Amino acid sequence: MELLRNARDAGARNIYVASVLRRRRYRTLTVLDDGQGVDERYATLIFEPGVTTRHLNPTIEAVDPNSPPHGAGLSLYHIRNLAVRSSLLSAASPTSITVTFDTRVLPERSLQSTTRPSRSNLRATVENFARTSRTSAFYYAQPAKILASLIKNHIIHNDESAVELVELAEALGLRISTRTAQKIKNGEIPAIERIDGSGDGGRRRVMTERGGEVDGSTALLDLGDEQMSRIAVILREAAHASYVEVHDLRQSSRPGEITLTARVREPEDEYE
Ligand SMILES: Nc1ncnc2c1ncn2[C@@H]1O[C@H](COP(=O)(O)OP(=O)(O)O)[C@@H](O)[C@H]1O
Ligand SMILES: [Mg+2]
Repeated sequence: MELLRNARDAGARNIYVASVLRRRRYRTLTVLDDGQGVDERYATLIFEPGVTTRHLNPTIEAVDPNSPPHGAGLSLYHIRNLAVRSSLLSAASPTSITVTFDTRVLPERSLQSTTRPSRSNLRATVENFARTSRTSAFYYAQPAKILASLIKNHIIHNDESAVELVELAEALGLRISTRTAQKIKNGEIPAIERIDGSGDGGRRRVMTERGGEVDGSTALLDLGDEQMSRIAVILREAAHASYVEVHDLRQSSRPGEITLTARVREPEDEYE
């Protein structure tokens, strides 16, 4: 939340949160924004206690105009004390701050929701913040998708080789493999939609055929030809074992759900 506030207060129009949990324990959050950037005089100091430029440009919380400006230069200091690693990776164009927390020391709160249980409430935090801050667009995803979105939105450029893209991403706190970089360059990893802060927290609700509700935030799975034909092979084998045949395997993807439909029938010639 504090990182989002800082980005917003820097006048960012776009704020990206890359989130990844490694070894089921270490949460890395990298917040990138296209705001005015960290003044170079403060770049090495912003994690120190009491360092703030807020007096130059005080902001008042929209939710409570009577509350004093938050932080007073202590938020990043507090973050640094809680984190196993924290750094300003890029002062501007885009600004990038990355922090890693040990979730055994700082447990994450899971999201208590019957429709959308989640191991962490991080995405929900960004959604809530987006609702109070309509001047910025917010994005929350794993690093690869954030990188794809940064390219699509021209925050960074895609004229490098895959290897160079890996290095550029790493320098901004987005760790990806060369293979993933290649996929991004080929457009195989789609950019994500901005979080829609207009009311339901960006969730599109999708009813399944069984009447249940699935979360339709952004998760969309599309199987390529190769994967479909591998599934077809498995189904054909299974069908063969039951003396039936499989025809027209189809997929339909909706946010939060994929449906595979295959027609199964008994071979007619058996009956001739
Ligand atoms: N995303 C950012 N863009 C530009 N400057 C930033 C950003 N994040 C932090 N800063 C700078 O670091 C300072 C310290 O941040 P913080 O510890 O959160 O304290 P505060 O927000 O109360 O000033 C800010 O005053 C600002 O100058
Ligand atoms: Mg702050």
